[in-house]
Amino acid sequence: MNKNIFAISGSLRSGSSNHNILKFIGTMAPAHAAYNIYNNLAQIPPFDPGLDNETPPNAVTELRNLINHADAVIICTPEYAFGVPGQLKNTLDWLVSSSTLVDKPVSLITASSVGNNAHTALLLTLGALSANVIEEATLLIPFIRAKMDDEGNITDKQTREGLENAFSKLLALL
Ligand SMILES: Cc1cc2nc3c(=O)[nH]c(=O)nc-3n(C[C@H](O)[C@H](O)[C@H](O)COP(=O)(O)O)c2cc1C
Repeated sequence: MNKNIFAISGSLRSGSSNHNILKFIGTMAPAHAAYNIYNNLAQIPPFDPGLDNETPPNAVTELRNLINHADAVIICTPEYAFGVPGQLKNTLDWLVSSSTLVDKPVSLITASSVGNNAHTALLLTLGALSANVIEEATLLIPFIRAKMDDEGNITDKQTREGLENAFSKLLALL
C-alpha cells in the first residue's frame, strides 16, 4: 500500500541545513512511499483564535489537509534564541483546534548549533497536540553546520547513520 510522508522544515532560510536534512531523508524514501517537503510555511498567517473557525485562512486549511492525508510527519528544525522558531510554533498553534496531529506518527529532528531547548519545547508542544511522537525516530543533532559541506551534503558519518536509523524506525511503523 502506498504511504505518504509529509516533512516540515522549521527554517525558512534558503540553503537551510534542516531543509537539506529533509532532502537527504527523501533520497531514502522507498518506492511505495510518497515523500513531500512542505514549501508554504512562510504563508501561514499569525495565529489568531478569532480566525480559527469554520473558514480558517486558506494556507491553514491546505496545511491541515496535507497532514490529514499523511501517514507520518517529519519535523526538522533549528533552534532560535533558545526556543522553537517562531513560524514553526505559530504553525503548530493552528493545528490545535483541528486535532490534525492527534495520534499522527511524528519524527522530530532538531538540527542546530546546540538545539536542546527547542527540542524539549517541541516535545512538550507535540504532547499538547497529542501527536504520536516516535521516540526511536527522534533525533537531536548539534553542531549541524560543521556536519555539512557547502552544497548541503551531510559529511558526518554518524549523523547520516542516525538519520538513516531514525527514518527506518519511522517507516517500520507505517
Ligand atoms: C537569530 C538566530 C538565533 C539562533 N539561536 C540559536 C540558539 O539559541 N540555539 C542554537 O542551537 N542555535 C541557534 N542559532 C543557530 C542556528 O540554529 C543555526 O544557524 C542553524 O544552522 C539554523 O538552521 P538552518 O541551517 O536550517 O537555517 C541561531 C541562529 C540565528 C540566526
